[in-house]
Amino acid sequence: MKKILILNGSNLNMLGLREPEIYGTQTLDDIKALCEAAAAKQNLKIDFRQTNHEGVLVDWIQEAVANFDGLIINAAAYTHTSVAIHDALKLLKSPIIEVHISDPETREKFRHHSYITPLATEINKGKGEEGYRQAVEIISKLIQQ
Ligand code: DQA
Repeated sequence: MKKILILNGSNLNMLGLREPEIYGTQTLDDIKALCEAAAAKQNLKIDFRQTNHEGVLVDWIQEAVANFDGLIINAAAYTHTSVAIHDALKLLKSPIIEVHISDPETREKFRHHSYITPLATEINKGKGEEGYRQAVEIISKLIQQ
């Protein structure tokens, strides 16, 4: 069975409470359940994680090099700032799907640049939690075709 790593960055543990007008009312646990259901349908195994720490994301991306068949990542604010995450993603040979609940390009200017996008196989943004479910389906097609 193919294994997918799903990584979530800073403040995504606060979904449900955090700016619901932008991010909706679902919690990260709800999103995890959504991803697990989508993965089960695709016969994929997922490992769903969240951290507020940039270096931990770098460690987990490095772990994915040898241990996972694909990566789905919402790096949250680190999307717009992290050269370290950009460099770590360069190590991966497997598909990378960049996900955002909102569409950062329609928001403040400082959210318009992504250090993830140049390395992403596909980008799925602005679709709320549904974007995660779609990302599982997209990555499933990429790695199982
Ligand atoms: C986000 C968008 C980022 O700009 C923001 O810093 C986040 C969440 C999203 O999912 O819409 O924390 O990645």
